[in-house]
Amino acid sequence: MSRTRVPLVAGNWKMNLNHLEAMYFIQQFTWLMRNAHYDYEHSAEIAICPPFTSIRSVQVLLQAEKAPIRIGAQNVSPISGGAFTGDISADMLKQLDCRYVIIGHSERRKYHPEDDANLINKVRAVLVAGIQPILCVGESIAERSQGIELEYAIDQVSKVTRDLSDEEVSQMIIAYEPLWAIGGNGSASPQIAQNAAAAIRQYLLSIYGNYVAQKVRILYGGSVNSANVVSLMQGPDVDGFLIGGASLKPDEFSKIARLVTIASAQRDE
Ligand code: PGA
Repeated sequence: MSRTRVPLVAGNWKMNLNHLEAMYFIQQFTWLMRNAHYDYEHSAEIAICPPFTSIRSVQVLLQAEKAPIRIGAQNVSPISGGAFTGDISADMLKQLDCRYVIIGHSERRKYHPEDDANLINKVRAVLVAGIQPILCVGESIAERSQGIELEYAIDQVSKVTRDLSDEEVSQMIIAYEPLWAIGGNGSASPQIAQNAAAAIRQYLLSIYGNYVAQKVRILYGGSVNSANVVSLMQGPDVDGFLIGGASLKPDEFSKIARLVTIASAQRDE
């Protein structure tokens, strides 16, 4: 893989798969990848973001399988520890080998409203723990019908990144996930995904310079599956995918990772 940005295929399991189901998934998935001779070192990076309760089981099985599949969490507390019933700290996730934490997913923004300060503090908390945040942004149908979708997504990026240093921003991953495309309702077109990724990269370039703009991976998310992933990968600024529903099926998720690897190699030839 010649590119500086290795494509990332990240599965967001949301509130699905208890720890027994998660173990079954990992066994099937690693078998499928082994059977397909997936060369983890030179292919798209794969991450799985299970519910908190399944992370430990996934960690143990991946270690046993010696499969370099990354683990991510779906949320984190902005605080490092103490009397916060029900919360999980970034350090706890680091102990479980979490390399990524999804921050600001639209479902969390909707059901657990959080302000920008909270999102900034979460990003800072995971960076301090040595974990990379996957910051989710993206417009609803209302902004899109007004034609302000790019401004909206960039504004979401800027509100979280504006108080961070260049070095901190360079550690981030941004997932563009238009709300209207999430949940199997039909993905954005490859052109829409590319336009948004390019606009976000252009914003990073204008504020943080070339190093940061070239380093940050920008993912697309929203109804990605094995039938549309190759065309979505054509956009030169699309560095991979955050995948919900299709990441719950081992064969489908494994197919997507293999297709992304082939499509990105062809794109970069
Ligand atoms: P979806 O979810 O692939 O099921 O549309 C994507 C996401 O919400 O991250």
